[in-house]
Amino acid sequence: MLKLPEKDLVFLVKENYDLIAVAFFSVAITYVLSKTWRRASGVDHGEGIPGSLGLPFVGETFSFLSATNSTRGCYDFVRLRRSWYGKWFRTRIFGKIHVFVPSTEGARKIFSSDFADFNKGYVKSMADAVGQKSLLCVPQESHKRIRRLLSDPFSMPSLSKFVSKFDQMLSQRLKKVAEVGKSFMVLDFSMKMTFDAMCNMLLSISDESLLRGIEKDCTAVSDAMLSFPVMIPGTRYYKGLKARQRLMETFGGIIAKRRNGTEHQDDFLQSMLQRDSYPSSEKLDDAEIMDNLLTLIIAGQTTTAAAMMWSVKFLDENKEAQDNLREEQLVIGKNKGEGYSLALEDLNGMSFGLKVVKETLRMSNVLLWFPRVALNDCTIDGFEIKKGWHVNIDATCIHYDPELYKDPLQFNPSRFEEMQKPYSFIAFGSGPRTCLGMNMAKVTMLVFLHRLSSGYMWTVDDMDSSLEKKAHIPRLRSGCPITLKAFS
Ligand code: HEM
Repeated sequence: MLKLPEKDLVFLVKENYDLIAVAFFSVAITYVLSKTWRRASGVDHGEGIPGSLGLPFVGETFSFLSATNSTRGCYDFVRLRRSWYGKWFRTRIFGKIHVFVPSTEGARKIFSSDFADFNKGYVKSMADAVGQKSLLCVPQESHKRIRRLLSDPFSMPSLSKFVSKFDQMLSQRLKKVAEVGKSFMVLDFSMKMTFDAMCNMLLSISDESLLRGIEKDCTAVSDAMLSFPVMIPGTRYYKGLKARQRLMETFGGIIAKRRNGTEHQDDFLQSMLQRDSYPSSEKLDDAEIMDNLLTLIIAGQTTTAAAMMWSVKFLDENKEAQDNLREEQLVIGKNKGEGYSLALEDLNGMSFGLKVVKETLRMSNVLLWFPRVALNDCTIDGFEIKKGWHVNIDATCIHYDPELYKDPLQFNPSRFEEMQKPYSFIAFGSGPRTCLGMNMAKVTMLVFLHRLSSGYMWTVDDMDSSLEKKAHIPRLRSGCPITLKAFS
C-alpha cells in the first residue's frame, strides 16, 4: 500500500480540495436521493417479497423486452425469476413495481375486490386506441351500466343463431381447404374465421373487401394499444389512431343507415339501436356502442383464434384424447343425420369436447396474467403490497401448479371430470370483469372441434414449438401448418 508522509498528505489535500469536496457532496447527494426515492416508491417496505428492482425507472425492463422478443415468449421472464426467487417475486418494468400473484387465494382476493381495492391501470395508448368508452377503460359506474347493456347478446340462449351460422361458415371453409389438399396455417384460418363470424354476428357484414379492410384496421388498433403514445407518422400509435378514425367512420355510417331505415338486420348492433327511445340509463350512446364494437372484435378475435390453434396442436400430440373426442363427436353427427347443421342444444352433448376446450385453455394460457393496480396498501398471502404497485394475477402459474393439477404439462382433458378448487381455473377471469365473450368463445371452440374431429384427420406439418416474437398472446411461430384428410 502507498504510504505518504504526513506533510505530503496535507499538501495533496490542500491542492485538490475542490475536487475532494465535489466528490464528497456527489456521493452524499446520491445517497440521500436514492434513500428518498426508495422510501417514496415503497421499495424499502416490501422486503418480504424477494426479487430485483434494478436501477430506478429502468429496473428489469430490458430483460422483459428481451424475453418478449424471443421465441420463448414473454412468460419466460416470469419463469426465470420464479426459478431464482421462488413463487413470489417482484420486479420493476417501465418504472412500475410489479408483483406476480401465483396463488388461488391471491386470485380470489383480487378478483373479489376488483374496483374496490384493485383496478386496471389507466393506459393512455389503450384508451386512445380502443376508445374512452370501452369496457376496458371506463370507471366503475359506467362499467357496470355498459356491461349490463352489452351482456344479453352474449348469454348462452342468445347465441343460438350464432352457432348455426358459424357452423355453416366453418363447414364450407374446411371442405374447401381439404379439397385443395395443401398444407395451410391453422392460425391464419382461425383468425379469418373468428373475425368474419364476429363481424357477421355484431354488424352483419359479409362483404369480403369491407371485412378485410376492417380487419386490417382492427389489427393496427390492437398493435397501438400498448405502444408509446406519440403522434409521429410511422409509429404504431399513429397508425393505430388513424385506423381507429376510419373504423369509427365505417361504424358511424352503418349506424346512420340503420337509423334512417335504409338497412335493418337481426344482429347485435340492431339490438343496441332498438333502445334509442329508452331512458339514458337503459341505453348506450353512439360513442359507447362504437368503442365497444371495436373492443369486442379485438378482445374476441385473437384470443379465440389462438385457442383454436392450440387445440389442434395439443390434440395432435395426444392421440388418445383425439380419439375420445372423435368418438363423442361422431355419435352426435350420426344422430343428426346426413347434411346436418349444428344447433345450440347439440353442444350440450359434447361433455368431452368441453373438457378439451378447458384443458386447451389451461395449457395455452391465451391471456398469461391479468394486470391490476393496488388502490390501497394491503396484504396478499401474508405479503405486504403497497398502494400503486402492479399486482398481476398469474393465471399461467396457477394453471401449471402441480398441487392443483397433477402432471400439469400433460394434456389430459379427463382431469376436468373432477371438481376444481375455487379459482384454480381462471382462463376467463372472474368477478366483475369476467370475460364478456366467454360463452361465445366456448361455443365457437366446440363447433370447431366437432367439425374438425368428426370430418377430418390431420397431420401437423411443422413440429417447431417456438413462439411468435413480440406477441402478448402466446402463438406458435409456425402458425401451426396442417394438412386435412376428409373421412370418405
Ligand atoms: C378463448 C377465448 C377467450 C379468452 C381466453 C378470454 C379471456 C378473457 C379474460 C381472462 C378476461 C378478463 C381479463 C381481466 O380480468 O383482466 C376477458 C375479458 C374480456 N373479454 Fe374475453 N376471452 C376470450 C374470448 C372473448 C370473446 C369471443 C369476446 C367477445 C366477443 C371477449 C370479450 C371480452 C371483453 C369485452 C372483456 C372485458 C370485460 C370487462 O372488462 O368487463 N372475449 N377475456
